Amino acid sequence: MIVAIDGPAGSGKSTVALVLARRLGFRYLDTGAMYRALAWLARRDGVEPEDGDALARLAREHPVSCDADGRVAVAGEDVTAGIREAEIDRLVPVVARHPQVREVMRERQRALGAAGDAVIEGRDIGSVVAPDAEVKVFLVAHEAERARRRTAERPGVRADALAEDLRTRDERDAVNTQPAEDAVLLDTTELTVDDVVARIAALVEERRA
Ligand code: DC
Repeated sequence: MIVAIDGPAGSGKSTVALVLARRLGFRYLDTGAMYRALAWLARRDGVEPEDGDALARLAREHPVSCDADGRVAVAGEDVTAGIREAEIDRLVPVVARHPQVREVMRERQRALGAAGDAVIEGRDIGSVVAPDAEVKVFLVAHEAERARRRTAERPGVRADALAEDLRTRDERDAVNTQPAEDAVLLDTTELTVDDVVARIAALVEERRA
């Protein structure tokens, strides 16, 4: 079974997807981390973020791995912390915009999904990567709450700067954020992680039944 969890930055996707995958005993795939790792590599290797062909080549040469604990590695390096820097936050929507890049990533995401039970989180999973996913959820949350969550994740960066970054990212990510028509919309603003996980687990149970 594939559980597709999509939604904007700060909607709670990553935390929820990781906890849910553990609870169900499913594999966990963070597709945002794949785009982030590519942005990290492009910065390291001096590849222009506007050069879609060079980025697609880089992506093909260096598959990203993401383990059950959410650790991310690329080109032999653990980039778990490095890909969450504010500079990568700003770079990644530019990198993720190229159709050539998305083609490589989606192909890999489908291959990983085809291996069986998985929770896959991103922006276009239920609509494009895994349109046959048995459970599709689109998470949303009010802007102020999403900014508050980001502040908690990025200690040391000013809250007003993060709120502004989030607004810019929403604009840049809009083109890649494609909710599936048949996704269940879940507003996480007032919900705890456990609440959200329980609701999605209930959808999984419904599908199994
Ligand atoms: O979910 P996140 O913030 O880690 O995602 C990082 C970036 O990757 C964000 O700019 C959106 C993009 N992304 C995408 O275009 N498609 C996906 N399936 C996942 C993420």
